[in-house]
Amino acid sequence: MSTAPIGIFDSGLGGLTVTRAIRSRLPHEALLYFGDTARVPYGNKSPALVQELALDIARFLVARGAKTLVVACNTASALALESLSAALNIPVIGVIEPGVDAALARTQTNRIGVIGTLATIRSRAYQTLLKTKREAVHVVGQPCPLLVPLVEEGWLTDPVTRLVAEKYLAEMNVSNLDTLILGCTHYPLLKPLLRSVVDGKTALVDSAETVADRLALELKRRKLVTTTEEPGNLEIFVTDTPARFEAVARRFLGHPLKNVSLVHLP
Ligand code: DGL
Repeated sequence: MSTAPIGIFDSGLGGLTVTRAIRSRLPHEALLYFGDTARVPYGNKSPALVQELALDIARFLVARGAKTLVVACNTASALALESLSAALNIPVIGVIEPGVDAALARTQTNRIGVIGTLATIRSRAYQTLLKTKREAVHVVGQPCPLLVPLVEEGWLTDPVTRLVAEKYLAEMNVSNLDTLILGCTHYPLLKPLLRSVVDGKTALVDSAETVADRLALELKRRKLVTTTEEPGNLEIFVTDTPARFEAVARRFLGHPLKNVSLVHLP
């Protein structure tokens, strides 16, 4: 069991930010990555549909031998984590709690913002958990639906993206917040741009590393750490346009990908 792979999934390629953090934290683990490129974006879909899609993908990864599931997608973590944990008999790790913990460790004024897709912000998953863990916290949630397509387009430093980000962050009065959770897989790719918009006054929290730490702990606790010393393999499954995924992912991960397969879920 311990040499079995870790399953990671996202609605598209944004989850590679989490995959990169997991790869550097756990270099010997075999990884299976599933990007639902045929149905991205999840961020404006209904909770029922996201739960259904997430379960289909989780079952696919479990059938491929996944020993643990990482829900890298914030929208799926916000809407489907509970139903996935109930349906599967492997550990399921989402990105919301690691992001919340990182933000609470970071804030000095207890004024925290969270940006994400419409579905994530509407679910109030971040807001509720922040309040549950620390009542004194003041939370502002801001949906930023235009940022995902801009990232998918590769416009990471484009003036258009900057204008859009400025507008969203002004709407949430970011200058009154000392910590901002990047509650979407795609936003870490915009870190340099967002950093310049907040002008060093607000700390940006990207949960990818906290998720990788949480996963490492969970594997240890359940005695699931791989026994191999070889570098872990990364196998990728997408539901549409593998060539496009490969091109963007190569740019993002900084090396070519060999194993991108097209799959059709029932
Ligand atoms: N992966 C999604 C998330 O982290 C962003 C893209 C989408 O809307 O599907 O919320």
